[in-house]
Amino acid sequence: MAIIAPSLLSADFARLGEEIAAVVAAGADWLHLDVMDGHFVPNITIGPPVIAALRPLTDVPFDVHLMISQPERYLEDFARAGANLIAVHVETSPHLHRTLREIRRLGCQAGVVLNPSTPPEAISYVLAETDMVLIMTVNPGFGGQSFIPAMIPKVRRLRQLVAAAGYPVHLAVDGGVNLDTVVDLAQAGAEIFVAGSAIFGTDDYGATIAALRARIDAALQDREQET
Ligand code: DX5
Ligand code: ZN
Repeated sequence: MAIIAPSLLSADFARLGEEIAAVVAAGADWLHLDVMDGHFVPNITIGPPVIAALRPLTDVPFDVHLMISQPERYLEDFARAGANLIAVHVETSPHLHRTLREIRRLGCQAGVVLNPSTPPEAISYVLAETDMVLIMTVNPGFGGQSFIPAMIPKVRRLRQLVAAAGYPVHLAVDGGVNLDTVVDLAQAGAEIFVAGSAIFGTDDYGATIAALRARIDAALQDREQET
């Protein structure tokens, strides 16, 4: 069923431990950790020491989204910090095949991320090395941006590509995911939903996650009936 991965980028950074406890109690399936270097994206966030400090607080999988140049230089550091999944951007990784293999060799699941302008076919030849494709539905760098509707047909196209290839690759979406956008995304084929401001911007994380899940599950049922 659907996976909901709250993005800690929109949490209160002065109380990260409490925020993690609250969102896990509220039903988060994964935690999404946004790593930015001020080079690939115009913002700077956290690195391996913060992730390592948070790791003992929960058993929930850590989904680490690397928005950094030359990610291959840091894979081992993030694996050691406790990442369960490491996702690298196509745009930062000229040797993507090798990089994905290295992530798996380090014992993590391998994710590939596509910027909004990057075509779906960019991942056609690495599907055997990929556990998750993350489709950016905003331009990476900041939380709280507006969803880009043109990404819906892109999710649909990736669903077809993955189904045709026959590999067990999961599709994730990140950016502007909220109660209004999850339905179309789920119908298009998304399975993993990263949401920052839509969850941390509300008072009751549990109610928000439950509402997101209910809408996603209803959309998935509709989709199954259609197919
Ligand atoms: C953006 C990050 C996202 C961000 C999403 O570059 O990759 O994970 O936290 O935030 P919302 O859900 O607020 O768009
Ligand atoms: Zn992210």
